[in-house]
Amino acid sequence: MRVILLGPPGAGKGTQARLLVEALSIPQISTGDMLRSAIRQQSELGKKAQSVMEQGQLVSDELINSLVLERIQQDDCQQGFLFDGFPRTLAQAQALLEHHIMIDIIIEISVPDDVIVNRMAGRLTHIASGRVYDQQANPPKVAGIDDITGEPLIQRDDDQPATVLERLRVYHQQTKPLVDFYMALSKGDAEYAPAYIKMSGQGDVVSIGKKILTEIENLNKD
Ligand code: AP5
Repeated sequence: MRVILLGPPGAGKGTQARLLVEALSIPQISTGDMLRSAIRQQSELGKKAQSVMEQGQLVSDELINSLVLERIQQDDCQQGFLFDGFPRTLAQAQALLEHHIMIDIIIEISVPDDVIVNRMAGRLTHIASGRVYDQQANPPKVAGIDDITGEPLIQRDDDQPATVLERLRVYHQQTKPLVDFYMALSKGDAEYAPAYIKMSGQGDVVSIGKKILTEIENLNKD
């Protein structure tokens, strides 16, 4: 199964991705996590991406498309994958079509901007794994510490309030058009028309995950 998680920064894509990949037995492909890993390693890609990400802008389509197209050639992607944070522009979505990479399900997670701004202020991240926490909705077992590794949690550089506002602006300008793009594709009669699920990203984290999985099961019954 090939799935795209679509939604604004802070909608809960990463949080839900971790629940869904376990239930669906497919790998999570988070372009954000891949870029942060490249920055930690100070690879050529990481050097190019670092300042762009710190400013809340998007890394070039060319770099992202080649990163993703290479990643999905790997063995663990043969039965499918879940894209988290990709595609993010019409050019990235077009690249998938041009390479005949057909998507089964688009899951749009929607959360109002003002809720996102508050969430990001409280987000703590374990950078090496991409695991995220929130003091209210999703707290770590020990304050400030990753549940799995025991390593410290930090606030991402791009979670500073001014950068979050810029990321939201970029989302509305460059990524939101994908909502209409994929909705139109899902309503078309092309053989590769994906199913489209729209879900509120507000409420209990586990309940949202269960609702998404129920919608996926219902699609499989049709
Ligand atoms: P990326 O890492 O993809 O960031 P993002 O899309 O901005 O999304 P986030 O990871 O910030 O949020 P999320 O939706 O995953 O929410 P989360 O689950 O963490 O990208 C970072 C940067 O990399 C981009 O700005 C860009 O520069 C670059 N980049 C990446 N992909 C690219 C691409 N394809 N093209 C070009 N550039 C690219 O949750 C957020 C918080 O809310 C957490 O604290 C969480 O605990 C909490 N939370 C989650 N669910 C709930 C809930 N139901 N109720 C209350 N709180 C909740």
